[in-house]
Parts: sequence; C-alpha cells; structure tokens
Amino acid sequence: MSTLSTTSLSSRPRLYSKTSATHRFKVSCNSNSSTDDSPKLILPMQNNNNNNNNNNVDRRNILLGLGGLYGAANLTNIGSALAYPITAPDNISSCVAATQGITDLGNAVRGTACCPPSSQTTPVPYVLPKFTQLRVRPAAHRLTPEYIKKYQEAIEAMKALPEDDPRSWKQQGKIHCAYCNGGYSQEMNGHPELKIQVHNSSLFFPFHRWYLYFYERILGSLINDPTFGLPYWNWDNPMGMMLPPMLETPYPSPTPPGQPNAKFNPGTESGANCVDQIRTNILAGKVESGVHTAMHIWVGNPRMANNEDMGNFYSAGYDPAFYVHHSNVDRMWQIWKDLDIRNVDPSNNDWLNASYVFYDENKNLVRVYNKDCVDVNKMGYTYEPSRLPWLQSRPIARVKASKVAAKSVGVVKKVEEIKFPVKLDQIV
Ligand code: C2O
Repeated sequence: MSTLSTTSLSSRPRLYSKTSATHRFKVSCNSNSSTDDSPKLILPMQNNNNNNNNNNVDRRNILLGLGGLYGAANLTNIGSALAYPITAPDNISSCVAATQGITDLGNAVRGTACCPPSSQTTPVPYVLPKFTQLRVRPAAHRLTPEYIKKYQEAIEAMKALPEDDPRSWKQQGKIHCAYCNGGYSQEMNGHPELKIQVHNSSLFFPFHRWYLYFYERILGSLINDPTFGLPYWNWDNPMGMMLPPMLETPYPSPTPPGQPNAKFNPGTESGANCVDQIRTNILAGKVESGVHTAMHIWVGNPRMANNEDMGNFYSAGYDPAFYVHHSNVDRMWQIWKDLDIRNVDPSNNDWLNASYVFYDENKNLVRVYNKDCVDVNKMGYTYEPSRLPWLQSRPIARVKASKVAAKSVGVVKKVEEIKFPVKLDQIV
C-alpha cells in the first residue's frame, strides 16, 4: 500500500483546480504558485515518501522538459543512475493503490484500486502483428449511423465482460489511473521511491498511443472486426468541435451503479456557447498542456469532488470520450511529423526504450516500447483525413489589457487583419 496519508494529500494541489461553472479556463503546465487561480495541470508528487525533497531530481524529468518544475540549483544533484529509460514493472502485482493527484480521496467515486488483474507471467516483448488492411480511424462527427452502432456494440461488449477481465471497461479505465496517479514505481530502474508518471513529458504521446492501440484492438476483437478504427474527436476542425454524436446516445449504465454518468451533456452542463467553445479551442497552445488539458477540463464535471471523470487523471479512463479525445491527440502527433521533415521523434535511449505493460486483446501480458510506436502504419492504422483550418491561422495573443490600455488603443486588430511588414509609425 502507498505510504501516503490523506492528511498529506489534503495540502497537495489538485490535478486541475476547480473550474467555474461556465467552464472558462486558461491552461498552463507551469506548476509554480501564482496569484492566477485559473486551472492548471499539476503532476502528482514524484516521491513515495512525500518528503518534498526537491533535490531528488529525476534526470529523466529534466531530459523530458520538466525543468520548470524544479529550481535550477537542483541540476547539480543529478545522479547518473537515473538515466535509464522509464520501465513499467515486470511484476504488475507490485502496483499499489493510486492516490496521488486526488484531492478529495473520500469522494473519489472511481476508487483508488487502479492495478491491473495480476498475472502469473512476466510480460513478453510485444511484436507488432502482421495485417492485411490498415484500420482507419474516422472523424467522430462524420460517422455513419452504422459505424456508431458498431462502436456502441463494441463498447457494450466491453462493458459486458466480467470486471476482472483485463479487457473490461473498468480495467481499461484503471490503466490511466495506474500510470498517472502513482500505481507504479520505478523499481525496475532501481528507484522504487520514484513513481512512474506519463504526463508532462515526452512519454505523453507514446504512452497514450499504446494505450489506445490496445483499447482499439480489444474493441475490434469483441465485435470480430479487426479493421475497427477508433474514431477521433476532430476538435481542431470547427465542424467537429462539438461533442461527437456517438457519445450522446445512451450507453449501458456505468458500473458500479449509482456513479456519475460519464457522458457530458453540452445541453445542460456547459455555460459556453458554440462560438465560445470554438474560440477557446483555437486559442489552445501546445498539444498536451493546451488543447488536451482544456478538453479534459471541459468534459469533466466541476460539480464532482475531483472533477470526475475527465477532469482528473485517476478517473479519465472511465469516460468513453477520453479515448475519442486521445485519438485526436494521437493524430496531432502524426500530423506534426507529416508537416515538416524536421519534425522528428526523440532519438535518445531514454526515450526509445521507455516501456509500459499492457494486456493485449488476447489477454496476454506484453511489454511495449516507445521505439515501436513511432510509425502508425507499422502499427496497422491510419487516420481518415480532415481539414486542418488551424494551419492557416496564427494564435492571437492573450494580453490582459488594462482599462487604460484598452482606451488608448481602441480596437485591437487580429493578427490576420494586419498587413505585414508593419511600420513602427502606426498602431497595430
Ligand atoms: Cu493521460 Cu488525457 O491524459
């Protein structure tokens, strides 16, 4: 069991701070305290013993771009033993209750028991299977009624599996919690005192790619359709920004009974109108800290103690919207690579050989590596193309204009309205 006490958690910042009822937010991955009370993505603590010892710096966090979480002085204390790639435990039974990043543990309705069903075997390295036809992931807002039906049949079959089946809806949901809220430690790297965390780092894209890969294959196998592609929520395209219709049709009731409905109902739960939602999406910044987190917060329910389901890492995997959302996040990775030959994945050992453990669609326990997920076609899938209207746009700076400034400048032009080059003798 984790040594964390409820008391120590109560002073810990929540994963996302509370949103206002209107779901307006700004997103930042900066965890430094600030007077700004807008929602922020906050990593659970890295240390099991919760001693707040920031000198215990995991070099991988630095390599992976988390330098902002620590003071620069700590860089001198990096131990060489910390350079191994992140490796999920062989023995998944060493997983512990996941309690990090859950502010209100007493009301954590999805529970902290996030470990997978135990296995008598150690995970075998996963070999990408041969296939004859690419699975095409379609845009969720363009699905035919037949496709929606197929998707819902697959979800129902997943929900009908016994809870302890590693392919079941509940077990799939728990995966996110185990990897994000302290279920696993870095024992395979000789650091059991450090937790595995797949967010706010370059593990974000590969981990979620593998997660969806198996989720998609499980759904496909349950309906006996190996070509089944997980739809993507096309939130980067004005036509696809609303909640996809596939998520609005009633689902079999969530288990266990009495828990919140995982679906988000835009008719009653969002104070933001369609235009506001689109504007907010367009203003998003980097994929993870920007639009990814924004969608989590938007879909999560601020009236739940921990913003369940989508608004907290520990519960996000219980919402079908999570996978459809992450399908588009994954698509962003692919688009980024396709856009420019200079957009390449990390090539260092720490990244290439980082690995996670999953159950595949045949209930085999397998180990997967970042290096094997860099090519979606080799993984057997592709994305149905969609327009990329944002490619033509430049973000509009969000400047907190004081009243004085607003008066003196008058109407501020959008970037698209400005003719470049701009001379310094005019107001833009
Ligand atoms: Cu693992 Cu959208 O988060």
